[in-house]
Amino acid sequence: MTRSSITFSRRYSLLMIMFFALCLVAKAQLRTDFYQATCPDLLKIVRREVQSAIKTEMRMAASLLRLHFHDCFVNGCDASLLLDVTDSEKAAAPNLNSARGFEVLDRIKSSVESACSGVVSCADILAIAARDSVVLSGGTSWKVLLGRRDGLVANQTGANNGLPSPFETLDVIISKFATVGLDVKDVVSLSGGHTIGLAKCSTFSNRLFNFSGTGSPDSTLNQSMLTDLQNLCPLTGDGSNTAPFDRNSADLFDNHYFQNLINGKGLLGSDQILFSSDAAVTTNTKSLVLSYSSNSRLFLSDFADSMVKMGNISPLTGSAGEIRKNCRLVNS
Ligand code: HEM
Repeated sequence: MTRSSITFSRRYSLLMIMFFALCLVAKAQLRTDFYQATCPDLLKIVRREVQSAIKTEMRMAASLLRLHFHDCFVNGCDASLLLDVTDSEKAAAPNLNSARGFEVLDRIKSSVESACSGVVSCADILAIAARDSVVLSGGTSWKVLLGRRDGLVANQTGANNGLPSPFETLDVIISKFATVGLDVKDVVSLSGGHTIGLAKCSTFSNRLFNFSGTGSPDSTLNQSMLTDLQNLCPLTGDGSNTAPFDRNSADLFDNHYFQNLINGKGLLGSDQILFSSDAAVTTNTKSLVLSYSSNSRLFLSDFADSMVKMGNISPLTGSAGEIRKNCRLVNS
């Protein structure tokens, strides 16, 4: 080998090492103290605003938690869900007339902007608001990693295809989570988010009268709950009435969701299959449901770990994306 080709190959190796080091840094860029110098009161401001929103309407905690999930599953946690654009994610089937809490995020963003303008991303605000919603509902806490930037585009097709639907099989739901790097344990622990909040009749009425063309209700649904839901969601209704996921403690973030599944009281088909389907045994979700139902601390700690994992889905960092001034619009 000539001297010049050795120099070239050394330089090339060095460049490759620098490239991989940069990739590693980019992945590890989210950190808890990201805004310590630039927006020291951020966490206090978000907590205060979430608290005030929940005081007005307790359900808002559930709605904000769900928004973070729906944001992260589509293009990563980049606040693309919040954009008011043509082909918005808001107008995708899983979100239309369903995702809520956008006005609350506007309020939080404007308080944050008053304290530290142009610094904090909408994606980070949503991640903090989701954590605070769980804490203020009596659940668990975790340190939110920060430093995400906001996306420049919405992805309606991604929202239609990537978000799990209550009518899908367990295998399909598990594969949708796997696509964004989440495993079976994440599927079960994060489904525990359904310990708070409400769902419309249209999302579970397929189970009430003629389930999968059988002419009968879903046999895995508890009889007294079935009767109540049939009354709430008559065949002649428009599907807009709502039922709580967890009938005994709809506003409390606890492990009752899992106890409900064992008693045939899961609300959505996608909830109950975590315990009652054949696939629940082969995929191990059934044994996870059993563990969480009897061990609340285990559930809360796994839920917190999975939320951090979910919050880490493909964040934009460094100079990618932007810090939006208004969460609904890209900066001009
Ligand atoms: C496993 C797949 C999932 C499916 C199929 C699913 C589906 C649904 C559906 C259909 C609703 C009711 C929407 C409506 O009636 O308008 C809902 C509500 C909700 N979901 Fe999920 N979800 C899933 C996972 C998750 C995850 C991972 C979280 C959060 C960690 C979550 C949090 C919530 C919350 C808190 C609500 C209530 C929102 C409110 O009351 O405004 N869900 N979900």
